[in-house]
Parts: sequence; C-alpha cells; structure tokens
Amino acid sequence: MSAVLNLLRSRLASSSSFASYKQLRCMSAAPNPNPQPDIKCAKIFINNEFVDAVSGKTFQTVDPSTEQVICEVAEGDKADVDKAVKAANEAFRLGSPWRTTDATERQNLMLRLADLIERDRNYIASLETLDNGKPFSAAFAVDVELAIKCYRYHAGWANKNGGKVVPMDGNFFSYVRHEPVGVCGQIIPWNFPLLMQAWKLGPALAMGNTVVMKPAEQTPLTALYIAQLAAEAGYPPGVVNVVPGFGPTAGAAIAEHMDVDKVAFTGSTEIGQLIPQMAARTNLKRVTLELGGKSPQIVYSDSNMENVVDSTHLGLFFNQGQCCTAGSRVFVEEKVYDDFVELATEKAKNRTIGNPFTDVDQGPQVDADQMGKILELIDSGKKQGAKMTVGGSRVGDKGYFVAPTVFADVQDDMRIAKEEIFGPVMQIMKFKNDSDLLERAHNTIYGLAASVYTQDIDRALFLANSLRAGTVWVNCHNAFDTAMPFGGYKMSGQGRELGEYGIEAYTEVKSVIIKIPQKNS
Ligand code: NAI
Ligand code: MG
Repeated sequence: MSAVLNLLRSRLASSSSFASYKQLRCMSAAPNPNPQPDIKCAKIFINNEFVDAVSGKTFQTVDPSTEQVICEVAEGDKADVDKAVKAANEAFRLGSPWRTTDATERQNLMLRLADLIERDRNYIASLETLDNGKPFSAAFAVDVELAIKCYRYHAGWANKNGGKVVPMDGNFFSYVRHEPVGVCGQIIPWNFPLLMQAWKLGPALAMGNTVVMKPAEQTPLTALYIAQLAAEAGYPPGVVNVVPGFGPTAGAAIAEHMDVDKVAFTGSTEIGQLIPQMAARTNLKRVTLELGGKSPQIVYSDSNMENVVDSTHLGLFFNQGQCCTAGSRVFVEEKVYDDFVELATEKAKNRTIGNPFTDVDQGPQVDADQMGKILELIDSGKKQGAKMTVGGSRVGDKGYFVAPTVFADVQDDMRIAKEEIFGPVMQIMKFKNDSDLLERAHNTIYGLAASVYTQDIDRALFLANSLRAGTVWVNCHNAFDTAMPFGGYKMSGQGRELGEYGIEAYTEVKSVIIKIPQKNS
C-alpha cells in the first residue's frame, strides 16, 4: 500500500498543482521579471477596441506592495455594460462572423491565444505581480502556466462537444444538439485574475459564446491585456469584451442585464447570494457561482509528517492565503498535535515576505481592506483565547504585508474557525477520534474543499466519500487540473467549472424531432 501512496505522491509532486510551483519554476524557461512593465491597456475593451468610459470616469489601480498608484483605468458602469452587451449580442447574431466560424477554427483561435500568452509570459507575469502583489515566481510558474494550459485544454473541446441521437418512440428522427448559451456575463475576483479569466473565457469561447467580463477593481490589468491578445489571435469584434469597474455598478449591471444569457461569478459568498436574485428578477439568466470556503485539512498521526507539514503549509499560505480553497482549519489527531504545532509554526516563521519581484515566498495582501479584515480577525482570535504561536501583525508600514500567523488550540466556535479569513492565518485544532472529527469538519456553511493526510487507504477512501466538499484531496492540497471539475457544495457555490462539467455550464441543449412519413410499400 505504501508503494501505491508513494507513487501517488511522486505523481502529485510533478503535476502542475499550486503546491509544486517551486518545482515548476525550475522547469520553466528562466523568468525575467520586469518590476515596471509598460501599461499598454487600461481602457474598456469593446468590439476589439479600447475606449473611454461613457461617463469619462477613471479609477486608480494600486501596487499593493508600495501603495503607489500604477495607473488610471477607465471606470465602466451600466452605460458601458450596455454597450458591451450590445456588441456581444451583435457578435452572437446568426450569420455573424463568429457564428459561422467552424468549430475547428474556434479551436485554432484559442490555441493561438495560448501561444500569444506564452510569447508574452514574462510581461504578463510581471503585470500580474504588480497589480496583485503575488510573488513573480508564482505568477510566472503557476498563474500564467495554468492559464495557458487552461486555454489549450478548452481548445480541445471546441470541436468535441457533440450532441447525440436519442431513440424516440414513434416514427421520428430525434437528436440533441449542443449549442452555445449566448452572451455570457463573467464577474471575476482579484486573487487569481489571469487564471480566473482563463477558467471563464476558456469554456465560453470554446463553445461559441460571446463574453462581457468584469475583472475585479483591484486587479484589472491582465484581463485587459489578454483581451487585446484575443483580438490579435483573431477573435472577431464583440466576442470578447472587458469592462473594468466596480461591483455594485458594472458588476450588477451585468447580473441584471436583460440581454445577458448567463452569468458566472467568482467571489464572496455575500455577493454570490445576490447574483441569483438579480438574475431571477430580470431575465432568469443561467447562474454559476464559485464562492468562499473554510476548508478542513485533516491530519492523522499515521501520515508522513514531512509531507504533511509542507503540504498543509502551502495549503493555507499559498497566494498570501488568498485562495478560495485555503485549508484554514487544520484538524490534527491528538497524538501528533504538539509536534505538528511546533513544526507548522517553524515553517511559518521561515516564510520569507517582501517585494514580490524578489525571491520571496509571500507578497502583500491585495488591498488595505483585505489587510484590515485579516488583522481584525487575528485580533478576534487573540481575544477569544486561541494560542498564537507566530505572527499576528502587519509587517512594515508601507504595503499591505501581514506576517504569517499560526493559531493553536483553536475552538470550533471562535470566529477564526468559522469565518473566511482569506489571509496568511492558520488555525490548528485537535481531534481525538473519527467520530467527533466528521461532525466538526462539517460544522461550516461552506463545502468547497477538504484534504485528508493518512497512510490508511480505508480511512482515506471513507473520508473522500463522506466529506461534503466539491474537492477532496488525499495527502496533498491545492492540486488542480483543468480536466477536473471544480466547485462547491453548500454555500461555496453552484455548478462546476472546468472539465466536461464546466463545458456543460456553457452549453444549451436543444432537442430536434423530425417526423418521418410512413410509406406503404
Ligand atoms: P467580492 O465578492 O465583493 O468581489 C468579487 C467580484 O464581484 C469583483 O469583481 C467585484 O467587483 C464583484 N462585485 C462586488 N459586488 C458586486 C455586486 N453587487 N454585483 C455584482 N458584482 C459585484 O469580494 P471582495 O469584496 O473583493 O472580497 C471580500 C471577501 O470575499 C474576501 O475577503 C474573501 O473572503 C472573499 N473572496 C473570495 C474569493 C473566491 O475566490 N472565492 C475571491 C475574492 C474574495
Ligand atoms: Mg466586496
């Protein structure tokens, strides 16, 4: 059995998981960060052109590691969304260049887009680091890498999402066609701007939809650059439209638009609850949601401690803790609890933090609001009696840096055990046996992901079946692949992205029934 698990482990180590980004960094062409990338695209992208906002307004996007303004960005609102939706509808019209593009050509377009991203990889990774604050090494080896893979994967689906012939009673020829949904509104967050764009554009464009996307106001720059690359790749005008702006204005205008056929949202559960309401009270557009989490990482005493300490660490701290899958509740079996707390604390202490263009593990949080939310939750942990073993404060006074923080002796009813922190703060709790564990692990409104660390295959399979979460990892955390569906149980979301299931979310299903006249012979 351990041979099987070892094999599994070595496979995982070589996969393109978030957790193995250091290895990927070594495998990729030598990265060459540019801390001051030229900003080429900061306006609204409609019909393959950059335009100012109808209102003429702009907003500032800020470098979170210096708090310096990077540039002004055109601020789209309802009027701009209206224009973008009109363009997207026009591009979706029957007989339009896009609707008459062969499926194989749709595949080629997306492969070209992936090639262009690869061509500009250093620039794009630099832009992502500047706008979001994530270490360049991760932006280069994880975000850009996985975005390219995501487009290539979905290119493959463009000419393979066939319908089927279904035998129907009576004299009929009956078949099912798979068609695009239409105009897709896509609202994305700031934690993985480039990658979340790829998760959304990939399946939408492969299936022949058109898109109006709103990037997060904190990180609009890479989405706008990729829009321009889509035009360079040859996508016809109106197919990809990107409207930077704020949630309650531009975002809500998309979710409420009568001429948007589907809305896909990734972000907070709070806003995720509003999106279906907006869709329902307007045109009942289709909705998919990818929301928050409070994912457990469950550590049994029989697991390989070295792997566990490394994996639980990255499972929480990766991307400054700003992952919807962050394993922020670490349940550790009593027998190894003290050792684990010591090792996890040591590991967090050794985490390097600073300028994300240098060789560090951790950059700043994305903005002052996020930093404030994290520091407030850290305070609540102290006040409610959790034992802080490292960290606990802001680092420096410029840039939104938060020290890697570990809390031990966390009780299930503390705020830090219940609320999504979305920062570099690990909660460790003790468990005695299997029977109290499952109930506690499930004691959350969320159900996005979970991981289990054990050498016992029976236990691993039992928990993989029992845990109410969209993804369960065994002896790893944050291993992703575009072919594997991703999404949440409970209040972590609705529907699935990626893989064949993600393709379904961008497909309408049509039944065609043709009467066959009967002839007497
Ligand atoms: P948010 O949910 O407000 O923002 C996500 C996206 O939704 C952004 O593009 C935003 O402009 C848009 N948006 C906001 N209000 C909207 C509205 N009324 N209508 C339509 N679109 C709207 O998340 P925020 O405020 O940036 O972060 C708050 C918390 O949400 C974080 O601390 C974290 O806990 C969680 N979060 C979870 C993410 C995930 O990947 N599941 C990503 C980002 C945040
Ligand atoms: Mg918000």
